[in-house]
Amino acid sequence: MTTVKARVPGPSGHPLIGSMLDLTRRPLRTYLAARRDYGDVVRFTAGPPGLRAEFFVVFSPEGAHQVLGSEAANFRKESAFYDELRTSVGNGLLTSQDDDYQRQRRLIQPLFTRRRVDGYVDAIALEARMLAERWKAVPDGVVDAADEMSRFALRTVSRILFGADVEAAVDVVHRSFPALGEYLLDRGFSPVRTPRNWPTPANRRGAEAQRDLYGICDRIIAERALRPDGAGGKSDDLLALLTLARGEDGERLDPDELRDQVLIFLLAGHETTATSLAFALHLLAGHPEQRHRAQEEADAVLTGREPTAADLEALPYITRVLKEAMRLYPAASVIGRRAVAESVIGGHVIPAGAQVILAPLVTHRHPDHWEQPERFDPDRFLPEREKERHRYAWYPFGGGPRACIGQHFSMLESVLALGVLLRDFDFEVIDRRVALGQGITLRVDSPMRIRLAPR
Ligand code: HEM
Repeated sequence: MTTVKARVPGPSGHPLIGSMLDLTRRPLRTYLAARRDYGDVVRFTAGPPGLRAEFFVVFSPEGAHQVLGSEAANFRKESAFYDELRTSVGNGLLTSQDDDYQRQRRLIQPLFTRRRVDGYVDAIALEARMLAERWKAVPDGVVDAADEMSRFALRTVSRILFGADVEAAVDVVHRSFPALGEYLLDRGFSPVRTPRNWPTPANRRGAEAQRDLYGICDRIIAERALRPDGAGGKSDDLLALLTLARGEDGERLDPDELRDQVLIFLLAGHETTATSLAFALHLLAGHPEQRHRAQEEADAVLTGREPTAADLEALPYITRVLKEAMRLYPAASVIGRRAVAESVIGGHVIPAGAQVILAPLVTHRHPDHWEQPERFDPDRFLPEREKERHRYAWYPFGGGPRACIGQHFSMLESVLALGVLLRDFDFEVIDRRVALGQGITLRVDSPMRIRLAPR
């Protein structure tokens, strides 16, 4: 029987602000040290005395399983971060709960079956080709992997959502999402939040970014509604499918709900995939042996033609490279919830109402579950080795009833794009060490340059 310990241990942090800055500016170092010093459940505080917020960070796979899987009903999406996200990008599939959520999932799930997602491959292939062509024209061959992948992933998810309307959306989203992200992150971490309608500079910037994003989505949706079938003529992009989606009793998404879903897909399907791809490229650029192996695979499968959905199965090594990149640098580096009732995790009492944070960033480097966790070794993901591990030793896409709906889409996009880039280019790392920060997703806070040479 496990003994239940009364007080959860943790760092006292800075006397004035607790651990707030450490967690946003040095998340990996701060969380890794906390696990090493205090164990698998750690109590952090953030904010000034008197207004200090307390939260519990869980590092063990068993704890992650409890929060996302076996006790999911007790851990709700009511963390400070999810509350802010909901206010900023609406009540879509990532943020909604209860009946709203069930209804949305029923309508949207059929658009993310494997067969449907495989149908988006032409957009992925087109954007990968455009990227490769652009790279061939870079005079000194030096690019920033994070910037490039952010742009590629945004263009790809926008093309899948909006089809021919992609160009109208990309510029606005590229400009406004980072501003909105910064704003809601500041608020999500802050113990004192000014009402959103106060005319502070931060509130104004946040409102402006939100207005631009809502504006472009509403405009595209309204223009579609004027076309013959109300969904964009013959278009079969995701927006058209969302517009036409009907439940068994004829239920459908209304225009506001449509906009909320579109925003959620732009948000959830953009920086996450970009981060995974950027780190995969960067790691390969710094590891010649693994890069050559991946290039041999890309050459054998993709030479002289565009990728197809069937190629995913034929690129197992590149798939392992991506999984390993997501292990070391999971885009959703932390996942937040609020405990409804008291619970016990790893022998510690988590009080009712507590903010609970899971940290795949650290679980993915947990020395009890990973040999030489800091080493880049894609073969950890050979099927026989994957089987030996706890289901939640690696969970970049979350788990349980709220696991990522875009998982197959993201893997298809990332593996095929990486295959095309490996086939067409050789890479060399310039900035070997990069600084990590905490944005809405894991963020790169320093240059991430690589040098390309066309093959
Ligand atoms: C490497 C890429 C991706 C990563 C690492 C990732 C990660 C995650 C994680 C961890 C969750 C669970 C969040 C939680 O439990 O609080 C999630 C949910 C979700 N993701 Fe992804 N995601 C990725 C790509 C995508 C893409 C491409 C899309 C859509 C086009 C997408 C759409 C969503 C949605 C809608 C949810 C909410 C699902 C639900 O609650 O039913 N994601 N994602």
